[in-house]
Amino acid sequence: MDIDTVKERAGPREFGPGDDMPREYREAATRMIQFHANSEIMGAYIERPFIRQAPSLDRKLAVSAQVQDEVGHGQLLYRAAEELGIKTREEMLDELEAGDGKFLNCFHYPLDDWYELPMIMFFVDGAAMRRQATLKRTSWEPYAHAIDKICFEEGFHIKHGEDILRTIATGSKRDRERLQAAFEKWWPRILQFFGPTDDQSTHGEFAMEVGLKTMSNDDLRNAFLNAYVPKAKKYGLELPEYPRVEYHEADDYYEVYEEDLDWEEFFTVAKNEYPTGVGQIEKRERAQAAVEWVRDAIESPEQGGVSPAAADD
Ligand SMILES: [Fe+2]
Ligand SMILES: [Fe+2]
Repeated sequence: MDIDTVKERAGPREFGPGDDMPREYREAATRMIQFHANSEIMGAYIERPFIRQAPSLDRKLAVSAQVQDEVGHGQLLYRAAEELGIKTREEMLDELEAGDGKFLNCFHYPLDDWYELPMIMFFVDGAAMRRQATLKRTSWEPYAHAIDKICFEEGFHIKHGEDILRTIATGSKRDRERLQAAFEKWWPRILQFFGPTDDQSTHGEFAMEVGLKTMSNDDLRNAFLNAYVPKAKKYGLELPEYPRVEYHEADDYYEVYEEDLDWEEFFTVAKNEYPTGVGQIEKRERAQAAVEWVRDAIESPEQGGVSPAAADD
């Protein structure tokens, strides 16, 4: 299939492993899905410390289930990307470990305390849900298929995040102050979730033309703002002065001043050059190293390990 045919036929779940897709499409889809998969894995790493820090057994169980979900989402997505024939799942995981894998800006920053957790579990997952819901109509069918399951589980994550937010927001004055501080720190990063404005986005236009993306960064950011500014207010959170967010009363919608967002930091973070991002990647690297001996034992029976086949004897 040539690229013009792809653009003509592009529609929801139109293409799959049985189609002869041009390399340009397969590379673009791999880039997009790998980014998404990496983000799920890094999301798990950022949430993981809160299994230990959760204030009650119920919260511990819920956070632990959520971390497992995120790892599962990553695996589903690597499989969907693998079927494009550009990279294997192992190659993508190795790239992530080596610091060459790109992932969401928000997951480059550590979460410092429990008050910051709903910034990820409610606002970032809420933003993710906005984007993912539109991806049920992506043109690469295995991606759309993975998204069905991801959206189902992500719905629970947002409910859980909102429950944590509500508990803190209805707590003591001190709780509310700490929540507000966490919000002010995270809000600009959250607004950058959808990536650069459409005119700065490198791959956005092509992805729209071939049906991989169905909504632009700017439209998604606006949709998110209009849904989540009222929610933030509902829990008593006040928007910081910057980035400025304007409310257009006549049309009942919010708009952010794009120029108030720090795009230089965003692009530094995206290149894995931000110090905290490196810290997150090292955790991934250490986890990989910690299980290396298990892989060796399974794969190299002559080194004293037992291969799955030998175990049957
Ligand atoms: Fe997820
Ligand atoms: Fe999630």
